[in-house]
Amino acid sequence: MKSPAKKGLAQILVGGQWGDEGKGKIIDVLMEHTDVVVRSQGGNNAGHTVEVGSEKFVLHLIPSGILRPGRLCVIGNGTVIDPVSILEEIRGLEARGIKTKGRLFISDRAHLVLPYHRLIDAGRESQKGRKIGTTKRGIGPAYGDKIARIGFRMHDLLDPDTFSTKLRAQCRAINADCRARNWEQVNIPATLRDLAAAARDLQPYIVETVDLLHRWRQAGKSFLFEGAQGTFLDIDFGTYPYVTSSNTTAAGACTGSGFPPHAIDRVIGVVKAYTTRVGEGPMPSQDDALGDYLHGLGREFGATTGRARRCGWFDAVLVRFARIINGVDQWAVTNLDGLDALDRIPVCVAYSLDGKRLNAPPSSITDLARCRPILKTFKGWRRDTSGIRSWRKLPAEARAYLDALAHLTGSPITTISVGPGREQTFSCP
Ligand code: IMP
Repeated sequence: MKSPAKKGLAQILVGGQWGDEGKGKIIDVLMEHTDVVVRSQGGNNAGHTVEVGSEKFVLHLIPSGILRPGRLCVIGNGTVIDPVSILEEIRGLEARGIKTKGRLFISDRAHLVLPYHRLIDAGRESQKGRKIGTTKRGIGPAYGDKIARIGFRMHDLLDPDTFSTKLRAQCRAINADCRARNWEQVNIPATLRDLAAAARDLQPYIVETVDLLHRWRQAGKSFLFEGAQGTFLDIDFGTYPYVTSSNTTAAGACTGSGFPPHAIDRVIGVVKAYTTRVGEGPMPSQDDALGDYLHGLGREFGATTGRARRCGWFDAVLVRFARIINGVDQWAVTNLDGLDALDRIPVCVAYSLDGKRLNAPPSSITDLARCRPILKTFKGWRRDTSGIRSWRKLPAEARAYLDALAHLTGSPITTISVGPGREQTFSCP
């Protein structure tokens, strides 16, 4: 990877598309030279896959930096945490010999995802005309409670008696509502029991993380803020309402952790060499034949839900917009090898809407759904790139394709990934 993190360097890594860009793997590579990794938004709707040697890890909430011995991991205030599910993740790591105590710190300000959030998520998804295609992990309802100021936070787990009393009352009120809507209701005794147990086991991990980050910054440690989901799932800038409920863009790293904006040195955007999306919502460059081809290779199935992802050509209109919002200094391009067998590779360079050419996505999804992609086609390289380890050795057509992506999106490509392994990553000149 280009420019290993120097002392004190703070970098943000964001997804430039609709999530699943391969961020987990790039984070894992960057962590070789970074001391602290921070998750600042989202919850266990995310799924970061990292392959280390012959072992495969899928992490949902715990930063993938945990896989590098000695690195420190923080889950910031901007996240939403399902206490039972994060404990399962912790136990899964410990069972595979990865120590978490003294390395994993969870903000006491982070909000809780509770069983009723999952039921409400599922209930809303079942309503006609309201389907977003969520992961049904309760993310939207948990963030909704946060904004409505009726949520529970991690520090509530530290006062079990008060928490249990308040939670019982909340569950009863929610059950009355669910009954009226014919939605599944929460099992209150099981919820109280499971959460009391989770609270006990999570206690050693719950801390005030702002001061921790501040002290580490003063001590000259380097930081990586790992984004979950992607720019077009951002609650403000994404394809609303087909988005997640947090700020997945670079600024979310600061509000979601308490790390000051002026202390950020660099923003790295991660994009696939093509485009994928899970769930509902418009996707102008979608091409089902490309989807069939990639699924046929066993690629593009969700790490969290196992759903087949929708696939399309690289959409430079979206990625250019992502560069602007996030202030992307450099790109990492992943899954280049997914295109290896193709003769011709189209790229969406602009949209056409009502006879006009658009260079940026419209804000309204009704308009976005009517946009037709203007495609420019590149010559395929028809060679296996998964064993290539340097820019120089890439086929000329692949280099031309990547040069075009950099040109169309306005920032240099500094990293290429040609497979899931750590070693299948190299820098560009
Ligand atoms: P939610 O985050 O579960 O509320 O789902 C909202 C939308 O974001 C749906 O379209 C999901 O498929 C999508 N989404 C959430 N997390 C991820 C992710 O990690 N990768 C890709 N899509 C995601």
